[in-house]
Amino acid sequence: MDQNRVYIFDTTLRDGEQSPGASLDIHEKVTIAHQLAKLGVDVIEAGFPVSSQVQFKAVQNIAEQVKGPSIAALARCIDVDIEQAARALEKAEKPRIHTFVATSKIHLDKKFKKSEDEILDMAIKGVKKAKGYVADVEFSPEDSARTGKAFLFKIVQAAIEAGATVINIPDTVGYTNPEEFAELIKELRQSVSNIDNAILSVHCHNDLGLAVANTLAAIKNGAQQAEVTINGVGERAGNAALEEVVMTLVTRQGYYGKTLSINAEEIMNTSRMVSHLMGIPVQPNKAIVGGNAFAHESGIHQDAVIKDASTYEIMSPSDIGLESNKIVLGRHSGRHGLKTRLAELGFVLIKEELDHVYDRFLQVADKKKEVYEEDLLALVSDETEKTENKYQLVYFHILSGNQTAPTAAIKLRYEDKIIQDAAVGDGPIDAACKAIDKLTGSDVKLAEYNLRGVTSGKDALGEVVVRLEKNGKKYLGRGASTDVIEASIRAYLSAVNRIHTEK
Ligand code: KIV
Ligand code: ZN
Repeated sequence: MDQNRVYIFDTTLRDGEQSPGASLDIHEKVTIAHQLAKLGVDVIEAGFPVSSQVQFKAVQNIAEQVKGPSIAALARCIDVDIEQAARALEKAEKPRIHTFVATSKIHLDKKFKKSEDEILDMAIKGVKKAKGYVADVEFSPEDSARTGKAFLFKIVQAAIEAGATVINIPDTVGYTNPEEFAELIKELRQSVSNIDNAILSVHCHNDLGLAVANTLAAIKNGAQQAEVTINGVGERAGNAALEEVVMTLVTRQGYYGKTLSINAEEIMNTSRMVSHLMGIPVQPNKAIVGGNAFAHESGIHQDAVIKDASTYEIMSPSDIGLESNKIVLGRHSGRHGLKTRLAELGFVLIKEELDHVYDRFLQVADKKKEVYEEDLLALVSDETEKTENKYQLVYFHILSGNQTAPTAAIKLRYEDKIIQDAAVGDGPIDAACKAIDKLTGSDVKLAEYNLRGVTSGKDALGEVVVRLEKNGKKYLGRGASTDVIEASIRAYLSAVNRIHTEK
């Protein structure tokens, strides 16, 4: 094994999808998995198959369709979890079962009420069982960073003896710091006699904003695999961001001396795809992929960058595939040109989806002279789910004003029927949502509503992201249009459709 190689294990589709409100459907997960393969990650953690039918199917589809990276499935050290993970991975070219059990005293006492010996036994049995299905087994002692060192070293040693090929050390609650975590990794290397028989991995959460720093400190001190997510999405404050870990290792190659298999020019495409499909915007000042990451505001900086970009830029925007707001297509562009451009952005569409997106693209191109990459992303994110949808927007009419009761009339296609109704509301969007509720028999709460201009200019496309709440669960909906009321109706309907699909 190349001692300088760092493996990138992407868990956007598993830990990342545990971000509040970030649920993806199976088709969206497969789309992201294909893009992750294009990005060149070594491992895609596709999901937690035992946790739901959707998770199971998503892992199964990804295992079958996405070639290149290893495909991992998560499982507790419990028989049924491992059996389901193995079944979901049957068609994978390179399957990996990732099994875990918590090892910290807090978790043993409060969560499990089990002794260290009982946990040790679960870990050994879990790894052995997984090994019965696949050669590549990863074991994680959950909450490692708060686990007593003696027990941590003992369970790691035992998991490797049982056949684990990868040992992952998670800082589950984002508690550690770079110096302490580096020391832990060094001590693991010194104290666990069989550690060289496995790849040593780290998995850091960002509760104190240290996930990337902790990951890098571990890599500097002997960790060979980094578990990361695109845009740092994940449970609570998220996970270490892939783009930050990767670009630090690339930009500071001289300091870290590591090699990777990542195609960094795909970072921007992947970041935008994940942000659009999850409905989680990237903050403007986010390192690497934020809107301002390469923007120079001060006159002195701008002048110097024109003279020589290296004065204030340690990376070039093109290193991550960023070309500013490229005009991609216009109203005379054909279907083939659109298909090719979308494929470059990571969206490979089937015929019906392409037909929908093309129609929408022509409508937008008629209203806006220039269609940008960001516009296309908003349209495609809005349209890719349509083929499975039950309710589709046919027509809407809005009456609104400061002296009128806002009224919406909506016509939908439901399977082969056309249905229509009208409602009055506090405003035009409220009226439209009420009309949709009547038509679809929905009883939901609008928990979140966000509207943003996709690009600048008065003719910009508006993108609406909503989250509807039903029985304590949130459902994402997205819609895009040059008309913000239409974008809102589309977003609301897309969330209603997700609820119906789940039913
Ligand atoms: O944070 C964590 O401990 C995890 C494990 C399942 C690896 O996500
Ligand atoms: Zn985690």
